[in-house]
Amino acid sequence: MTSRVRGVIARSKGEPVEVTTVLVPDPGPGEALVAVQACGVCHTDLHYREGGIGDDYPYLLGHEAAGVVEAVGDGVTSVAPGDFVILNWRAVCGECRACRRGRPWYCFATYNAQQKMTLEDGTVLSPALGIGAFVDKTLVAAGQCTKVDPAVPPEVAGLLGCGVMAGLGAAINTAPVTRGDSVAVIGCGGVGDAAILGARLAGARTIIGVDIDPRKLEWAKQFGATHVINSRETDPVERIQELTGGNGADVVIEAIGRPETYLQAFYGRDLAGTVVLVGVPTPDMRLEAPLLDLFGRGGALKSSWYGDCLPERDFPVLTDLYLQGRLPLDKFVSETIALDQVEPAFAKMERGEVLRSVVKL
Ligand code: APR
Ligand code: ZN
Ligand code: ZN
Repeated sequence: MTSRVRGVIARSKGEPVEVTTVLVPDPGPGEALVAVQACGVCHTDLHYREGGIGDDYPYLLGHEAAGVVEAVGDGVTSVAPGDFVILNWRAVCGECRACRRGRPWYCFATYNAQQKMTLEDGTVLSPALGIGAFVDKTLVAAGQCTKVDPAVPPEVAGLLGCGVMAGLGAAINTAPVTRGDSVAVIGCGGVGDAAILGARLAGARTIIGVDIDPRKLEWAKQFGATHVINSRETDPVERIQELTGGNGADVVIEAIGRPETYLQAFYGRDLAGTVVLVGVPTPDMRLEAPLLDLFGRGGALKSSWYGDCLPERDFPVLTDLYLQGRLPLDKFVSETIALDQVEPAFAKMERGEVLRSVVKL
């Protein structure tokens, strides 16, 4: 039987989002119906609304979510009704060239539910990142559900579904930071602070947070930055070098997605160091730098999609570390809000007042 539930949609470009009735089909083969308990508000949701990702309106927003599996379709064995799960946008196929080479976190054929959620008039909804979770119940591919310990509060668990995982993974999977490294993180929003936390978890010795907002620098210290730089006042490249014996950092993580901060990351790293780009640029952005510097400085220039995470490998580990008090993920939850508060949460996000607003259902 189709479920009639409340969901937050972006009906057209730039219009405020609205709560409306969404029809959710019963799970078919390989699918799962999940009762969403919490879903974080991410920049990507706002990008969908602004038309920055595509033109497939209406979008069903929300994608950083945790909830309880309510029903599964034929052939699903990985999860069962009653399981507490984090939703992910990387259900790996197991068969593409990346999966076959043993690098499933690069999977080129990730998949979502086959059936569509709709409005009452039958209009097909495009779920954000193939999830769509600002909704009482959502339909996903079973592979998009990762079972974790139900002792983790849903508003905390859901964060691992996107931005926080991206930052943690940029440090622990993509770089990867190792014990004793010096690490600089440029941009200390939710993603950058998660990268700071990841660097700390991996045993970095020096962790430098760089931002232009003093409030963000205070938060960065709470997540484990050993030093902070206000790059509006101080040249970040020079200061990173000063703090690292004149050399630059072993790893610099760019968590904004802009050419000028990418260049700071590039020149702020030590010779043969690693730059990780986890911030998402816009299509118009261009990078200009002497090619000789790219060659001459050696090392690695990497980008990190979703923190190169493998949900089934990473989510249960990170939730366990949270439960052991070793990963204070709850610090990312600036506020919990109701389903009809997504629009004001976008405004707070744009003003930089929150790390994450999380909708509780
Ligand atoms: N120099 C230094 N810091 C900057 C600059 C700059 N030129 N411009 C912005 N910042 C800081 C902001 O003050 C803010 O603290 O970068 C941070 C960005 O954080 P958020 O806006 O909270 O974004 P976040 O959710 O962390 O995502 C960062 O990663 O996944 C991507 O799409 C996401 O591109 C975005 C990036
Ligand atoms: Zn694959
Ligand atoms: Zn996101």
